[in-house]
Amino acid sequence: MNSSKQGGIIIENNSSTTVEKIVSLAKRRGFVFQSSEIYGGLNGCWDYGPLGVELLKNIKEEWWKAMTYRDDVEGLDASILMHPRVWEASGHVENFSDPMIDCKKCKSRYRLDVLGDSFSEKKQIKAIESLKNKLNDKEDLHKKIDDIYANPGDENPFNLVLENDQLGVLLLEELNCPQCGNKNTFTEARKFNLMFKTFIGPVEDSGAVVYLRPETAQGIFVNFLNVQSASRLKLPFGIAQVGKAFRNEINTKNFLFRTREFEQMEMQYFVNPKEDTKWYNYWKEMRLEWFKSLGMTPSKLRYHDHPVDKLAHYAKDATDIEYEFPFGWGEIEGIHNRTDFDLGRHEEYSGKSLKYYDETVKEKYIPYIIETSAGASRSFMAFLIDAYYEEEVKGESRVVLKFNPRLAPIKAAIFPLVNKDGLPEIARKIEADLRKSLKVFYDDKGAVGRRYRRQDEAGTPYCITVDNQTLEDQTVTVRERDTMEQERVGIDQLAGNLLGKLHY
Ligand code: GAP
Repeated sequence: MNSSKQGGIIIENNSSTTVEKIVSLAKRRGFVFQSSEIYGGLNGCWDYGPLGVELLKNIKEEWWKAMTYRDDVEGLDASILMHPRVWEASGHVENFSDPMIDCKKCKSRYRLDVLGDSFSEKKQIKAIESLKNKLNDKEDLHKKIDDIYANPGDENPFNLVLENDQLGVLLLEELNCPQCGNKNTFTEARKFNLMFKTFIGPVEDSGAVVYLRPETAQGIFVNFLNVQSASRLKLPFGIAQVGKAFRNEINTKNFLFRTREFEQMEMQYFVNPKEDTKWYNYWKEMRLEWFKSLGMTPSKLRYHDHPVDKLAHYAKDATDIEYEFPFGWGEIEGIHNRTDFDLGRHEEYSGKSLKYYDETVKEKYIPYIIETSAGASRSFMAFLIDAYYEEEVKGESRVVLKFNPRLAPIKAAIFPLVNKDGLPEIARKIEADLRKSLKVFYDDKGAVGRRYRRQDEAGTPYCITVDNQTLEDQTVTVRERDTMEQERVGIDQLAGNLLGKLHY
């Protein structure tokens, strides 16, 4: 466990955090609840409680400000349901699927491309050895396995063998179901489309099928010319959108990391094809800086550039911004050079021109798109985990969420030291004044030390206490969450003082 000492406070570094601790705190303090909990929950769906909804809103607001409070990006809010042809043009109907297998005995369902991760390294080696023995003298297949293991890129080679058309079925025969333990009980792999289907109107036939969008991006692509002409934008420019997306993930896992309903914050930046690399690099840097500017630990952030042979068919360049979660590095945002693929496909499928007339070169062309695609829910989880600290202060322990003040769900809490002598009345007046511009919380229950602890756990950056000195000089104490230092501030200065500290 990593710990350090700062000014008499022993700090357990947030690297010792577990997902279980976060899930438990999230429920106890009202950040996140399991969806439909009283009915046993709905897998892969979560509800944001009073503190969670504020944190999520603040993350989205910060993103919106960073991405659209500039002269080259406009906002959009497209509908979740779109014309079904959109998803044919985008390739989702054909390709948005995971290879899936079932255990014939216990009916557990697995994604083939990550099944290997359920087995220890020892078991994986043993299964590959058995497979090789079974293959006897089939030298070409032996060579295939060796080639995969010699060159796995950043994938688990065991999973690559599983995904191989010739080898996968044979390797599956060597494996036990991770759930029931039976051997050789897997079905053949089949494609499972991740889009949720529903019907528009009263008739449930194939002509009425629509999909819940699996990404917000397509709403931007099909509105490209609408926004461009309405806002009289010239290249390069971007369109930003925040909204829900739905994916019928086979395996949901790790709390908010992979869910079936989630929110995305996406921006598509339309550029002259000759300038694509410049803008790709620009957004790659900007997006990593955004996470850092909101206090995310820099050493827990990194890029994962996709190797050329692993790029999606439409992409020229792609990188993931990854955060080091307690279960390992995981993508929180993708930055992609999508070339002219999306607009080209929508032009082809709709029969409508999506070309842009570039006055500077007197030419019509389909712009390239640089996409920044962040998960709001995944960022929420990363910000929550990153803020979590356990500390020992003068022999007492405290849990504290060290959110950047701009993200903190509650900005200030107001306490009367005691519930008499006119202190509650003054505290209530301060609360009412601050509430006009800030999300604040009033608490008069229990010892003041415990009230501080409750706010530390909610991530509230400032606690204001009205005490007996207030009656004499109209000042209050303002206690800062991380250092726990206190200063006296005049009541008439309080709003300005706090707004300044919160960078509003
Ligand atoms: N338009 C491109 C796109 O959707 P993606 O990599 O599939 O790209 C972008 O998704 C981001 O959306 C991811 O980096 C992640 O933060 C979030 N995301 C994707 N699937 C998710 C899921 N099942 N649950 C939560 N967040 C998800």
